[in-house]
Amino acid sequence: MTQFDEAVEAAEFLRGRGFGGAEVAVVLGSGLGDFADSLAEPFEVSYGEIPHWPASGVIGHAGRLVGGLVGGRRVMALAGRVHVYEGRPLARVTFAMRVMGRLGVPRVILTNAAGGINTRFSRGTLMLIDDHINLMGTNPLVGPNDERFGPRFPDMSEIYAPGLRSLAREAAAEAGVPLEHGVYVAVHGPSYETPAEIRAFRVLGADAVGMSTAPEALVARHMGLEVLGISCITNMAAGVLPEPLDHREVMETARRVRGQFIAVLEGTVGRL
Ligand code: HPA
Repeated sequence: MTQFDEAVEAAEFLRGRGFGGAEVAVVLGSGLGDFADSLAEPFEVSYGEIPHWPASGVIGHAGRLVGGLVGGRRVMALAGRVHVYEGRPLARVTFAMRVMGRLGVPRVILTNAAGGINTRFSRGTLMLIDDHINLMGTNPLVGPNDERFGPRFPDMSEIYAPGLRSLAREAAAEAGVPLEHGVYVAVHGPSYETPAEIRAFRVLGADAVGMSTAPEALVARHMGLEVLGISCITNMAAGVLPEPLDHREVMETARRVRGQFIAVLEGTVGRL
């Protein structure tokens, strides 16, 4: 069975469970899953029920798909994602995006926890992703191209939609939430970076570092979906502060800013 057929089957299953017609899919990063519980008239499936859908094993990634309404708009929230560092092929990591494409969802909001490289940032800063640098050493579009998904050489010059970024800025301003913006560098993980790597990434023009998002953004764009990316700076990147990095800090910070985070997401979706 091709990945296309698998995506069609998964999309059919989700349509049968009421997920058709969503205006946006929101992928929730580490510790940011609470948005899924803020939807009105919610319904859900667990990842394990969806044909071909990979389940994530990381703590803080629940693994469920929640449908519902935000400001009257049909939304699906993906709480939990599969990461490259789990050893899964990129085709699996980005399968959810393929399914969103086959479901006809026109846009995705990708959220993540990230380390702050830009020294103007601090723990809890929210950063709109202007663009990314993919340093994962691989690309999810490697391999035979299925033209039913998109072209062999897709353009990525506006991978994060300027229009959606404007809406997010408006939403943040209205909610009184400070919203920074910058470049996200995607790394393979799972180890956190070394201080020398972080200095190098800063020279390259990166403002934040994380282990997700870029593959999903590439695959979503390949299918012509619009993409918005928002990072929660859960910690300053390695070497920026004189202290070690800890996954618990990531989860704690994400939890601390969840109210602000949800306000920006809701305001953005409400403006679509
Ligand atoms: N580096 C990479 N990924 C991350 C970080 C980090 O500092 N924080 C949260 N995700």
